[in-house]
Amino acid sequence: MTQMMLAPAHIPVLVEEAIGALAVQPGGRYIDCTLGGGGHATAILERSLPGGQLLGVDADPEAIKIGRERLEAYSGSVLLVNDNFVNLQAICYKYDFLPVHGILFDLGLSSLQLNDNGRGFSFQHDASLDMRFNPGQELTAADIVNTYSETELAHLIRTYGEEGYSRPIARRIVRERPLESTLQLARMIEAVIGSRRGRIHPATKTFQALRIAVNQELEYLESALRQAVDLLGFEGRLVVISYHSLEDRLVKQYFRQESKGCICPPSVPTCVCGHTASLRLINKRVIVPSAVEVQINPRSRSAKLRAAERIIAQDEHYRIVEKLCSSTEVGANGWRRPTLLKKLRQAFLAT
Ligand SMILES: C[S@@+](CC[C@H](N)C(=O)[O-])C[C@H]1O[C@@H](n2cnc3c(N)ncnc32)[C@H](O)[C@@H]1O
Repeated sequence: MTQMMLAPAHIPVLVEEAIGALAVQPGGRYIDCTLGGGGHATAILERSLPGGQLLGVDADPEAIKIGRERLEAYSGSVLLVNDNFVNLQAICYKYDFLPVHGILFDLGLSSLQLNDNGRGFSFQHDASLDMRFNPGQELTAADIVNTYSETELAHLIRTYGEEGYSRPIARRIVRERPLESTLQLARMIEAVIGSRRGRIHPATKTFQALRIAVNQELEYLESALRQAVDLLGFEGRLVVISYHSLEDRLVKQYFRQESKGCICPPSVPTCVCGHTASLRLINKRVIVPSAVEVQINPRSRSAKLRAAERIIAQDEHYRIVEKLCSSTEVGANGWRRPTLLKKLRQAFLAT
């Protein structure tokens, strides 16, 4: 039995808020780009019955395995794909899964991954410095720690960890490497900066930086957000839950830019960008968990939810559906009817 199976389940964060922001409706078609333990996916499926469909994506094959067991009861309505969400459009074209009513990103890592002693995400357990969401990927945290130059390491730790002690940490890493294990690295960081960190462990920021770099989290998120907007149909919703300021800043800036018309600098007298708004913000202020949720699930404390709605004229939406979908099952309102259930069940069983 693996550690992952023994670990307590992942408690999904801001579930009701996410379902509300996605405006989940019976018969709707949704994408959960970060399936994890399947908590949000289950809630979406329950609210989209009858006739709802869900595409669940996760880079981690273990999450797909767990999701397949957990979502067995909905197998006729679910398609699970082990892939990176940076390939979101390609996945949707491949499975003819578009346009969609809502797309959810619940970023970062699940408690299942954090508590899995073999994955190297946590400085609480000793493990090899791995940190890959997808174990099939080549680059690991050990590769970064043991091969990057001191300057590159300092830059990475400062940029992705917002760590003020990035230079002394990088210097010490280079002096003491090769470093192989999480505890070796965590103790070394503790020795460099002591316990001057208040409530968080001194290694928290460096571990975050390494995880972001290993999984190219910010680059992939930026690309996936752009792809997601194009997959949304008329009044489709895009919802993102993030857990650190770098992610949240990226989402906030993207939503802000896409909800504007002209984005020319103020010094340009007449518009030359031709930019038009593709999103309307649903919540002007970020949504955070209640005090009760944080008490029940302390890991939810840093969560921030932002949501937006696709702006697209209904006739344009209709044209896109006709162009993109090989199926002729397009209803009068421009949405394809949920007739793919048999196909989805076959795909569910095949993947
Ligand atoms: C916070 S968990 C999601 C938890 C899930 N919402 C639930 O209710 O159980 C984040 C998940 O996203 C996955 N993930 C992170 N980045 C990804 C990416 N670029 N592509 C696909 N999956 C990714 C991780 O492997 C992890 O399983």
